Amino acid sequence: MNTAELSAIARSLVAKSRGILAADESTSTIKKRFDTIKLESTEENRRIYREMLFSAPGAQEYISGVIMYDETLRQKTKDGVPFPIYLAKNGIVPGIKVDTGAKPLAGFPGETITEGLDGLRERLVEYHQLGARFAKWRAVIDIGSGIPNLYAIEANAEGLARYATLCQEAGIVPIVEPEVLMDGAHSLERCEEVTNLVLDRVFARLFAARVSLEGMVLKPNMVVPGKKSPQKSTPEQVAEATLRTLKRQVPAAVPGIAFLSGGQSPVDATQHLSLMNAAGPLPWALTFSYGRALQENALSAWGGKPAGYSSGQQALFVRAKLNGLAAVGAYKRAMESSAA
Ligand code: 13P
Repeated sequence: MNTAELSAIARSLVAKSRGILAADESTSTIKKRFDTIKLESTEENRRIYREMLFSAPGAQEYISGVIMYDETLRQKTKDGVPFPIYLAKNGIVPGIKVDTGAKPLAGFPGETITEGLDGLRERLVEYHQLGARFAKWRAVIDIGSGIPNLYAIEANAEGLARYATLCQEAGIVPIVEPEVLMDGAHSLERCEEVTNLVLDRVFARLFAARVSLEGMVLKPNMVVPGKKSPQKSTPEQVAEATLRTLKRQVPAAVPGIAFLSGGQSPVDATQHLSLMNAAGPLPWALTFSYGRALQENALSAWGGKPAGYSSGQQALFVRAKLNGLAAVGAYKRAMESSAA
């Protein structure tokens, strides 16, 4: 695969008014989501839920790509069409999560290292054959007392760089996701400081590993105070701090940045994205790659019941549309009541 083809896929993932649906929850994470609607996490229930999302009428206009988990990439619609084929036919790029999770980092209590490099080259060849054209690898950085240490940041940056080159070798666009968690009690300023350091180290290793920046997408956190922080930030402060950080750290050669939602409410995640785009022009496309912020309402509207199927699809459509507007800076909070 040449870099021009990788770059065309990367640009299509961040095309105007479109963003990514992260539906790559591992089997243990989706079980936690299903527990909230008291639904058993069987392979068939997971298949039904994913088909509901992927076939939501109208949502395709705003969704450029879907990230799947290994099991989902191999599943089919009720009519027997493999999900990656079904999505591609509807103009949506199929994607696959390829890391095997964040594991405790030896020697550094409280810190993690994302694993999954062993055998990755062979897995990527198979994923490409199954139709995947982009991938995701999530590194996790927690903020707490005495953490993160530079070693943990650098080890995770190295993992991201090695993953990204293997993807590009296989003709797959890497989504590079270094997530600074919002779980702690830290301030917005501390989140900004850590996010700057993490992105600085990540781009240093991507460059050293000869990753083609034109053929990747960055998936960062927004700069927000920790959930347990007494500090409350305004949407404008979040947008300003996040943009300041990205402008300092992300080369203009990167075609696009697609945020994770990270535990923000669906409305906050949409509003923050819109404010940033309204502050343009920006050197890269800025869009969404949300999991919870796109799925939360759809999951509860569905409720695991056939009777809720079309309400679930409608709920996904509404959030996809509002985020599509946010990706061009045209979303207003007042649209929430009239959107449904
Ligand atoms: P959230 O938007 O729920 O954070 O999920 C996005 C994702 O893919 C995390 O890896």
